[in-house]
Amino acid sequence: MKLFEGRTAMVTGAGKNMGKEIALAFAKNGANVIVCDYNEEAATQTAEEIRALGVEALPAVCDVRDREKIFTYVDEAVTKFGKIDYLVNNAGGSSGLLGKLTRFVDAEESTLDFVIDTNLKGAMHCAQAVLPSMIAQKYGKIINISSIAAVCGLYDRVDYAAAKAGMIGMVKALAMEVGKYNICVNAISPGAIARNGKMSDHMTYLGENGRCGTPKDIADAVLFLAYQDYITGENIVVDGGRTLGTSHR
Ligand SMILES: NC(=O)c1ccc[n+]([C@@H]2O[C@H](COP(=O)([O-])OP(=O)(O)OC[C@H]3O[C@@H](n4cnc5c(N)ncnc54)[C@H](O)[C@@H]3O)[C@@H](O)[C@H]2O)c1
Repeated sequence: MKLFEGRTAMVTGAGKNMGKEIALAFAKNGANVIVCDYNEEAATQTAEEIRALGVEALPAVCDVRDREKIFTYVDEAVTKFGKIDYLVNNAGGSSGLLGKLTRFVDAEESTLDFVIDTNLKGAMHCAQAVLPSMIAQKYGKIINISSIAAVCGLYDRVDYAAAKAGMIGMVKALAMEVGKYNICVNAISPGAIARNGKMSDHMTYLGENGRCGTPKDIADAVLFLAYQDYITGENIVVDGGRTLGTSHR
């Protein structure tokens, strides 16, 4: 029997890169997967690859900022699979998605709203949508993909660092509320992780182990948090040592 056989995982931003790797990792371990992404083509592609692994996939094509659609898809998923066991809030990104990276003093209000709604409020919508199912069955894991920007800052991304730090606050407070229902809530803060096999321009320092991260490094940490039952309210930094102090050789 596979590790997550009979379980259901919902992964946001599952169309590409980290989210796709996480969604496929759940599927390889036997879980059915709700593939949430606003990019329809990417969501459909991930869903096809998941079905090819012999489990079920439900594409949920929507923006995590769209609270109504998120709740509708979660209802559909609970009807289809009976429950949701794991939520991975992975959809997110900086104002770079809008081509609007800038010093904070110049940031537009609409950009601040976009970054906070995408990274923080979107994660809240998804958590609120899945919680009734998790509470009813007294089991669940909510895993939130934050960023090392939350713990050590990131130039031109004050809104992003604040939103990702907000996720860690949410994790701690929600973990306190739902522990009695056997639900664990945690965050993972990745360092520089390659996208489409490539590093972004701002990812200049790779970490103490001398390489940048891969989506699999993050998927492995997600599976660990999904599997275990006694870590909650934590933020696990997965950055190859990038946020350690300066080395003195
Ligand atoms: N890549 C890194 O170095 C890095 C480092 C730290 C944290 N992160 C965080 O990890 C997560 C994944 O990063 P990535 O590099 O794989 O991202 P990516 O941009 O490569 O892929 C994100 C996926 O999410 C989807 N998406 C984006 N916004 C969405 C929304 N509002 N609603 C639904 N789907 C949406 C996109 O269509 C895409 O398929 C993000 O939250 C990001 O902030 C990334």
